[in-house]
Amino acid sequence: MKFEIIGGKKCSGEIEVSGSKNNALKILAASLLFKNPVVIENVPQIEDIFRMNELLKDLGVNISFKNKNTFVLDSSKVKNFKLSFDIAKRLRASIAVAGPLLGRFNQVIFPYPGGCVIGKRPVDIFLGAWKKMGANVSEKNDVFSLKAKKIKGANIVFRLPSVTATEAVIMTAVLGYGKTIIWNPAREPEVLALIDFLNASGAKIFGAGTSKIEIIGTNGKLLESKKPFKIIPDRIEAGSFLMLGAALADYLKIKNCNPEHLMNVIGILEDAGVQIKIGKNFLEVKKPKKLLACNIKTSEYPGFPTDLQAPFVVLMTQAYGQSMVFETIYDGRLNYIEDLNRMNAQITMCDPHRVIINGPTKLRGREIESPDLRAGLAFVLGALIARGKSLIYNIYQIDRGYEKIEEKLQKIGLNIKRIE
Ligand code: EPU
Repeated sequence: MKFEIIGGKKCSGEIEVSGSKNNALKILAASLLFKNPVVIENVPQIEDIFRMNELLKDLGVNISFKNKNTFVLDSSKVKNFKLSFDIAKRLRASIAVAGPLLGRFNQVIFPYPGGCVIGKRPVDIFLGAWKKMGANVSEKNDVFSLKAKKIKGANIVFRLPSVTATEAVIMTAVLGYGKTIIWNPAREPEVLALIDFLNASGAKIFGAGTSKIEIIGTNGKLLESKKPFKIIPDRIEAGSFLMLGAALADYLKIKNCNPEHLMNVIGILEDAGVQIKIGKNFLEVKKPKKLLACNIKTSEYPGFPTDLQAPFVVLMTQAYGQSMVFETIYDGRLNYIEDLNRMNAQITMCDPHRVIINGPTKLRGREIESPDLRAGLAFVLGALIARGKSLIYNIYQIDRGYEKIEEKLQKIGLNIKRIE
């Protein structure tokens, strides 16, 4: 499957933001901690969620649907603690499932998790924490087997604030014995939403959003869900639409988002000359008369998100002046630059983490392959800006994280077609 895009058209109208991929993946995994069915609303219809469903079903979770975005997960009969290798290898978030399984069964078997090709993605922080909580870890041919007599509270210091490690370790500690402390945890909105979900169901987790999280274990007692949980809006999708609006919109209203989660991005776009109206759950944006070059450095929340780095680079190809983009989170997340240059961008790679963009340039349509989901979306943006026709291949990568993106873009007047 591929996208055919005829670029150079302006857009106008309203665009809806779906539920957050990275929140939904962890909330679905958390269903393993419950003795009764959990109802999850606003789940995006994307490939990574389909893989997560397959992974959970394989473990014995019963999944039904109230409507296409509302899932009901019943984990009461789960006995299996071995992840399907085939599925887990396709999904980085599979390691999030290991957290609750270890907490519930005191053992888990999982393969080295897969996911995007954006550089090395080690799992040492997870394993270090689980060892401290009493697990014995063995590894053979990239398969990890963990076993504990019981999960005990521990004092854990993260060498860096890993998002999924914070979430996975919380999910292990929730059912454990005693108090676990995580120093230097992640503060991303998705982590806070997971904590809200667990605390609403009997967990005792304190310090969300600070430099220290404390979890008081339930001593093996499963959680009980009392009300449906709504997945938070996808801040990365909303942020990508902001870039789109800044590049191409006469007027664009981005609906169903949480602007508070995007303040850093909004501030930077304002520095670049973009006017943004901030509503309670919407944003309005349009292309400025003159877009100005701007430097960014990606960092953990509340800094500029690495997941918006690629669309920002594409936007800066349209800005007057020289921008520097410094990617600090991943080693391989600037690998798409060569392809953008083939579209006539003027980007110099200084080192694997830094690029300099000279703008503005007239992008030209091309045939390109989507390397990962965020760079894939950046290519879509590039192709929409470019003169002429582009074909974007390997769009499974884009479907992993963006719900029916072509339909959303068609509705605001853009020329993009999915070709089977
Ligand atoms: N890291 C380690 N050791 C570990 C864990 C992480 O060295 O044990 C390193 C990573 O290699 C990376 C840094 O720590 O250099 C931060 O990674 P983090 O663990 O925070 O990332 P993640 O939890 O694997 C999540 C999102 C990513 C997003 C990052 C950063 C999910 C499923 N994925 O990944 O999303 O880029 O946080 O915000 O939640 C995406 O959606 O496209 C995506 C890649």
